[in-house]
Amino acid sequence: MNTTAEFRRFYAEFIVKSSGSSDERLIEAFATVPREDYLGAGPWPVNVGAGYIPTISDDPRHLYQDILIGLAPERRINNGQPSLHARCLAAAAPAFGATVVHVGTGTGYYTAVLATLVGPQGRVLAFEREPDLAARAANHLRPFQNVEVRAESATEVVLPTSDLIYVNAGATHPPPTWLDALAVGGQLVMPLTPNEGLGLMLQVVRKSHTVFAASALCRASFIACVGARDDAASASLSAALKRDSVEEVRSLHRGTLPDETAWCAGAGWWLSTAAPRDV
Ligand SMILES: C[S@@+](CC[C@H](N)C(=O)[O-])C[C@H]1O[C@@H](n2cnc3c(N)ncnc32)[C@H](O)[C@@H]1O
Repeated sequence: MNTTAEFRRFYAEFIVKSSGSSDERLIEAFATVPREDYLGAGPWPVNVGAGYIPTISDDPRHLYQDILIGLAPERRINNGQPSLHARCLAAAAPAFGATVVHVGTGTGYYTAVLATLVGPQGRVLAFEREPDLAARAANHLRPFQNVEVRAESATEVVLPTSDLIYVNAGATHPPPTWLDALAVGGQLVMPLTPNEGLGLMLQVVRKSHTVFAASALCRASFIACVGARDDAASASLSAALKRDSVEEVRSLHRGTLPDETAWCAGAGWWLSTAAPRDV
């Protein structure tokens, strides 16, 4: 019978390589962080559309599949889909020593993966607005000296200058405070989701103080990011998703009026199909 560590390594290789990456550091991080240490005692509730079914036992090997596990099923809060995170973390590729903000840490599993990727010289500041989940995350993440968990909303604070802001709850727009916090060369990876239906994972790269490249990594569905939703931005996003392909998104603009290249727009920001200006 194969060990949990062998299942974890197969899973790590599977989710990273099936997302189109062969990033060995990312495979190693997923192969190193035990998912079972972050999800409480089994059997675990596996999300299946509208509900949950339990794993058939508390054997941790069940967790090494590309499945969502309920963290607080009554609130529909799940430990997200491993292959989606593998795809997004492969795109973001946080460097050793990077400063990362994680929005929506849940009970800490993907925070631990981020902390492993940035190493002891890096830093992960993890926000979780549900106090019980934040307490569980802080407890699970105690072995990581480079992680600080804050039991508060990431939309109500000033963030530190960051190389990566990694968001795990669905927003209709990038809050200005998040864009302001990006270092030049820094990235924001976030679910941009309308009020109904699938949205997308948006990657924004700050090229200079005023120039932002943007692209869609994949389609995605997430629970709401509290404090980062408005109906007008949702309507513009919904219309864009019905009209145009997400592959057309190329840049993000702030503080100007949308022009004929606009893909969708909100208050003070818009996504464009035009390439970002050279810097
Ligand atoms: C889809 S869950 C993901 C949890 C975790 N990343 C995981 O995959 O295990 C999203 C989390 O974001 C949290 N959240 C929503 N809005 C937030 C905000 N403004 N600031 C911090 N956390 C937020 C929710 O409470 C929830 O725990």
